[in-house]
Amino acid sequence: MRQAIAEAIVGDDGYGEDETVTRLEARYASLVGKESAVFLPSGVMANQIAVRVLTSPGDVILAGRSQHVVSYEMGASARNSSVQFALVDDTTGTLPIGEVADIIDAEKDHQPHIAMVSIENTHMPSGGTPWLLSQLDELLSVVGSLPVHMDGARLFNAVVATGIPAADYAARATSVMTCLSKGLCAPVGSLLAGSSDLMTQARRERKRLGGSMRQAGFLAAAGLVALDSMIERLSDDHRRARRLADAFATRFPESNYDPATCTTNIVAFDHPLARDLVAQLLELGVAGGTVAPRRARFVTHADIGEEQVDRAVALVEDFRWS
Ligand SMILES: Cc1ncc(COP(=O)(O)O)c(C=O)c1O
Repeated sequence: MRQAIAEAIVGDDGYGEDETVTRLEARYASLVGKESAVFLPSGVMANQIAVRVLTSPGDVILAGRSQHVVSYEMGASARNSSVQFALVDDTTGTLPIGEVADIIDAEKDHQPHIAMVSIENTHMPSGGTPWLLSQLDELLSVVGSLPVHMDGARLFNAVVATGIPAADYAARATSVMTCLSKGLCAPVGSLLAGSSDLMTQARRERKRLGGSMRQAGFLAAAGLVALDSMIERLSDDHRRARRLADAFATRFPESNYDPATCTTNIVAFDHPLARDLVAQLLELGVAGGTVAPRRARFVTHADIGEEQVDRAVALVEDFRWS
């Protein structure tokens, strides 16, 4: 990646003149089977631009309560787009179809019009859960013609875990975004894809939000390496996360954590002293985090090998439930 960054041919992407950015956008658009894509500085900006182009002020977005766009973006959708959320339970990573149908239908009972539906694939807080196509199709059957945004920050983790092609996932969404950082190892960058018209609007919103970059080809070059050579290796992260999941589930049976739900790179489980657990493990050299009160999260990535997992698994043995 560093080599590719050093050798990147760059131009001013503000004028659409950076051929490396253009190549990256075309490559992602083709991977997800969309007409066009836009390169962005972050996943949050990708979600925020999707909200901007798919809603109008006063609209309501139907989403899972713990999705990134709802809970981890500092209320950005309200601030940037003057929208609010209708929230449903997403503890298991998918959305409850009956409730989704009722919320959409409640417009007939003088409740707000739902302007778009947001889904997260993989769904981070539930432990990196990938959607299945049958689940998405069921959702689409009640969503009708409403636009669907797929926060696919970790879309390729879902692809590798399920064998479902990225384009098959994305065909079920109006817009899809993916982070080139995280498991794909690029230092910076996310991509948002959709129809040409939608992406023309997205480029305008990118400019408005200050996300239009100039010689961004240096970053895009790393992104191309990410898409070309970091996807298949995600299965290593998944296998290692599962080893960690088994260790935590064995050590803390009280959490009712089922390690079989860990199918990608995230281990997330409830623990009454999650913050202490994370702090103590950090002192011993294992970095994790909490994603909610009493919920710990550990993520595997390219820099976590078998040895690091062995070490973490050995350390977990010494920890208590309360
Ligand atoms: C599901 C999901 N969406 C969006 C984002 C935002 O990505 P970024 O941190 O690059 O802005 C994250 C980041 O953790 C995420 O987990």
